[in-house]
Amino acid sequence: MAKRIVIVGKRGRLGAALAREFASRYDVIALGREDLDLSAPVAPQIVLPGFDAMLNCAAATNVDWCEQNPELAQRLNGEAAGELAEFCARRHARLIHVSTDYVFDGKTPGPLAEEVAPNPINRYGQSKWQGELAVLAASPDHLVVRVSWVFGPDRPSFIDQIIARAQSEPAVAAVADKWSAPSYTLDIAQWLHPVLLERPVSGILHLCNHGSCSWKEWAEVALAAARRLGNRLRTTEVAPLTLAGMKPFKASRPVHTVMATTKFQALAGLQPRPWQEAVAAYVDRQYQTA
Ligand SMILES: NC(=O)c1ccc[n+]([C@@H]2O[C@H](COP(=O)([O-])OP(=O)(O)OC[C@H]3O[C@@H](n4cnc5c(N)ncnc54)[C@H](OP(=O)(O)O)[C@@H]3O)[C@@H](O)[C@H]2O)c1
Repeated sequence: MAKRIVIVGKRGRLGAALAREFASRYDVIALGREDLDLSAPVAPQIVLPGFDAMLNCAAATNVDWCEQNPELAQRLNGEAAGELAEFCARRHARLIHVSTDYVFDGKTPGPLAEEVAPNPINRYGQSKWQGELAVLAASPDHLVVRVSWVFGPDRPSFIDQIIARAQSEPAVAAVADKWSAPSYTLDIAQWLHPVLLERPVSGILHLCNHGSCSWKEWAEVALAAARRLGNRLRTTEVAPLTLAGMKPFKASRPVHTVMATTKFQALAGLQPRPWQEAVAAYVDRQYQTA
C-alpha cells in the first residue's frame, strides 16, 4: 500500500508542485487554508486518517509583510509550525518542515553548511528560525529543509516578473549585490523523494540548485532562455541595482545566503543540477512559443 503523505499549503508555489509530483508515488492528502488556517490553533482543525509524513509548505513568505506584521509572522511561521510538529509527533509521523536561507545573516560568502549558526536580520527570518527550533524540539525524527529563491510553474516568481517586464518595458534592472541559489520546485520534489521515507533523515537539510548568482544574473539567464524560445522581449539586458538602493524594501535582506548541499549529496547520492539548467528547463516548460 502506498505511504500516505499530508501536504500543507496546497496552493503555494512549492506545496502545489509537491502535491502534483508526489501523487503518482504516494497517497497524497493536500490541505489548503480552508482546511487548516495557521492563524488559529492547528490541532482542533485537523481531521485526518493515519499518515506517514506531513510536509509543511505553508508560510507567510512576503518578507516585507512579515516586517510590518511581526506578531502574525511569528504565529504563522513560528508557533503554528511547532503545533504541526507536536501534532505529527503524537501521531508517530514525520514532519518535513520547509524553511529558508533567510535564517542566515548573510555576512559570510561561500556555501553555508547546515551547522552554520542562524542569525536572522529580519522578522521573516526570525519567525522562520523560531519555527525550525520548535519543529526540531518536538521530535528527533522531524526534518527542516531549507530552500532558497523558489521558482516553479504553480505560482509566479521572480523569473516570471522579469520576463513580463522585459516583454512590456524597454529596460529592466535587478539587484546585483546579493547572492543565493535558485531552487526549482520540480527539482525539489525529486530531491525530497529519497529523504522523505526511503532513507529518512532528521535535523536540518539544505536543498537548492547548484551554484550561486545575484538577482541580476538570474534575470539574465531567464531572459536569454525566453528569447531563445522566440519570445518577444524588448530587452535581454539587465541593469544593475544595489540592495542599499532598494527603497521599497521594508525589511533588510541578507547578502550572502548560498547554501551547501554536501550533506544531501552524501545522503541521497544525487547532485542538484546547476541553477542555469533548472532555469532553462523552467522557461522551456512555461514559455514555449510554437
Ligand atoms: N518563495 C521563496 O523564494 C522561498 C525562499 C526560501 C524559502 N521559502 C520557503 O518555502 C516554503 C514554500 O514557499 P512558497 O514559495 O511555496 O510560498 P507561497 O507560494 O507564498 O505559498 C505559501 C502558502 O502558505 C499558505 N498560507 C499562508 N498563510 C496561511 C494561513 N494563515 N493558513 C494556511 N495557509 C497559509 C498560502 O495559502 P494561500 O494559497 O491560500 O495564500 C500558500 O499556499 C515556505 O516555507 C517559505 O518560507 C520560500
